[in-house]
Amino acid sequence: MSKYKIAWLPGDGIGVDVMEAARIVLDKIALDAEYVQGDIGWEFWKTEANPLPDRTIKLLKETDCALFGAITSKPKEEAEEALIPQLQGRGHIYSSPIVRLRQEFNLRTNLRPCKAYPGNPLNYRDDIDLVVFRENTEDLYSGVEFYPVPGYLRTVLDETHPKMKRFEGVANEDMAISLRIITRKAARNIIRDAFDYAEMHNYKSVTIVEKPNVIRETSGLMVREARKIAEEFSGIELWETNIDAMCMWLVKNPQNYSLLVTSNMFGDIVSDLAAQLVGGLGFACSGNIGDDYAVFEPTHGSAPKYAGQYKVNPVATLLSVKMMLDWLGEIEKATMLEDAIASVIKEGKVRTYDMGGTSSTLEMASAIADKI
Ligand code: NAI
Ligand code: MG
Repeated sequence: MSKYKIAWLPGDGIGVDVMEAARIVLDKIALDAEYVQGDIGWEFWKTEANPLPDRTIKLLKETDCALFGAITSKPKEEAEEALIPQLQGRGHIYSSPIVRLRQEFNLRTNLRPCKAYPGNPLNYRDDIDLVVFRENTEDLYSGVEFYPVPGYLRTVLDETHPKMKRFEGVANEDMAISLRIITRKAARNIIRDAFDYAEMHNYKSVTIVEKPNVIRETSGLMVREARKIAEEFSGIELWETNIDAMCMWLVKNPQNYSLLVTSNMFGDIVSDLAAQLVGGLGFACSGNIGDDYAVFEPTHGSAPKYAGQYKVNPVATLLSVKMMLDWLGEIEKATMLEDAIASVIKEGKVRTYDMGGTSSTLEMASAIADKI
């Protein structure tokens, strides 16, 4: 029996290409693991009206963690039209399988390291080493939304909140509401994760990125909890910035920052910005981490126009593999893999199209495997 059982979720489009690249590297590194293929994505939406079938959830529960490629997802109307005829008009509603995975397994922390590897022509600077901790389950993305606004809700809001006055006379059909919900528990968990990581990896500061001067209650709660937790960690400074200013600072002097911690939507935004500073989607890795399960994935989507062409950069996925190895406690293998990636980037001989080269996904993966 293998030491690890890993769920293998290629998904759609280039998810398949990059997962093949991941396998080349994992085989070379000789991780003692069994990989079990799981169904996820648009194909299963079309034919089963469920992009994350129950059998996949069951399979994940029998594994240590999952490696996931990418999926295709589309807006409501297009999703309905894509269903096979027998399934149309039955009120099936598409919901993102990755969001569902995060909720189902309480993968509360989205960890997004953005490190510049010298020699990458796409680096904004060569000395960037940012890690974004994004709360993964709440905030505006928890899906508590209303359209049209139900009358009872409108009445309660009108009666309880003075600021509702400015919407006087606007019909319920002409208004949509999405709720930003942040719990103390989730806030504390993500902030603590960031501080623990800082302590473990010797970082001197953690920056909380919110907007408490305007979003007083939810952002206020994040910042207040951050201040409390910071007191428990002597030697690690808490820096506080607003999300808008943070975007400017990250373009002006990203080398001055290290760990950033924030809520779900701000984290989504700021991690994309950070990823672009170190090469963009071809380099952006991530981990969705819970207390006893984790899903690792490149942050890019299924890029349909490149599907099956083996053209895209596998590094985002290979760095996600590196994160997975770290999480499994296979630190030595993780380091070997990261060194091999860094060395191929530094040499600059094998480059995918996004780096200005002509190498294929699998050539890049093989070059990295050769360095291991
Ligand atoms: P995308 O990330 O799939 O691709 C956008 C563009 O970025 C591509 O056309 C390509 O030029 C570039 N790109 C992406 N990955 C790359 C790589 N590894 N190497 C080099 N270049 C790369 O985003 P898009 O086109 O907005 O979405 C396509 C589909 O993917 C949609 O259905 C969307 O809903 C879905 N999606 C899924 C995600 C996931 O599975 N986690 C995340 C984002 C989008
Ligand atoms: Mg995103």
